[in-house]
Amino acid sequence: MTWFDGGVHFRPLADDDLAVPPSWWADRSLARDRWRDDETRSAVVVDGGEIVAAGAIWLSRLHEDRFWLEIVVDPERRRRGIGTALTQHLSTLRSRDLPFMARGYVDDESMHFADALGARTIQTVPPARASLDALTELRTHPGVQPLTGADSSRIESAYAELYRWTHETWSPVRAGFETSLAEGLWDELDVEASALAVDESGRIRALALTFRDTDPALIVAETIARNEPEGEHLVEGCIRRAMTILAHRGLTMVDFDGHVSDPHFLPALSRLRPAGRWFRLVEIPAP
Ligand SMILES: CC(C)(COP(=O)(O)OP(=O)(O)OC[C@H]1O[C@@H](n2cnc3c(N)ncnc32)[C@H](O)[C@@H]1OP(=O)(O)O)[C@@H](O)C(=O)NCCC(=O)NCCS
Repeated sequence: MTWFDGGVHFRPLADDDLAVPPSWWADRSLARDRWRDDETRSAVVVDGGEIVAAGAIWLSRLHEDRFWLEIVVDPERRRRGIGTALTQHLSTLRSRDLPFMARGYVDDESMHFADALGARTIQTVPPARASLDALTELRTHPGVQPLTGADSSRIESAYAELYRWTHETWSPVRAGFETSLAEGLWDELDVEASALAVDESGRIRALALTFRDTDPALIVAETIARNEPEGEHLVEGCIRRAMTILAHRGLTMVDFDGHVSDPHFLPALSRLRPAGRWFRLVEIPAP
């Protein structure tokens, strides 16, 4: 690669780089090399003493099937092979022989880059912003209750189970993921605008969890078991209750976080005629 002839080298990303980062990486998820441990690595490309690209790879605390890959190249120096070269370098820093993973809207340049590296789509996220006016498109369900007052450890277990099965076919969870999933949950949850559905014995059958750390609020909804009779109806009922509370507050829009492979969530979402851009999660083979 001619670009890499002379004067150019890789080095670990350091705290000093983060103290005065180049403006073009300001909104990127970058941290110093080994910020958590050997599963979290980062590096920069230096050309003539100047940083021209930065990148990181890390394993999520919820999954251990692929390293997340984040690369950013100085806009003045793109399309010269720097991003590809940095990906190759980061590949040598992997503590385990696992492929990479990246994400982006289908029309993003990052996805063109990922495709050039041999990306394979492992999950698709549908357009996810809906008007709260559309809530009447969803059926109510008599088993739906407010989340307020429910035992927190039962909610955490139900959410972990929901998360586990909705990821198991395309990005399985790692052992002990439940602890990380529950971390900070009660700070981020809008308990009043969340809902659950139970059976006669009180077993939780579905959840709609509303998160308030985004604007607009974000709803995650599915059944607790993959094979839940009435699953679609239960999820609709939970989402409808959550949306009703948000609408009563005078809000107008809500976002959803789910996947095309979520069998009860996607039909409910489709009734709401959401707007937005399609999103891809991709696996990139390690070079
Ligand atoms: C995505 C990004 C890292 C690519 O860096 P780069 O140094 O330009 O990448 P490369 O020169 O190695 O490109 C390799 C190939 O990817 C594809 N590619 C890269 N950017 C592209 C774009 N904007 N449009 C279409 N294809 C693109 C091309 O096939 C390219 O090969 P070619 O130039 O021979 O056609 C850079 O555009 C960037 O920093 N973008 C903003 C941050 C970002 O989106 N990062 C996410 C990456 S995980």
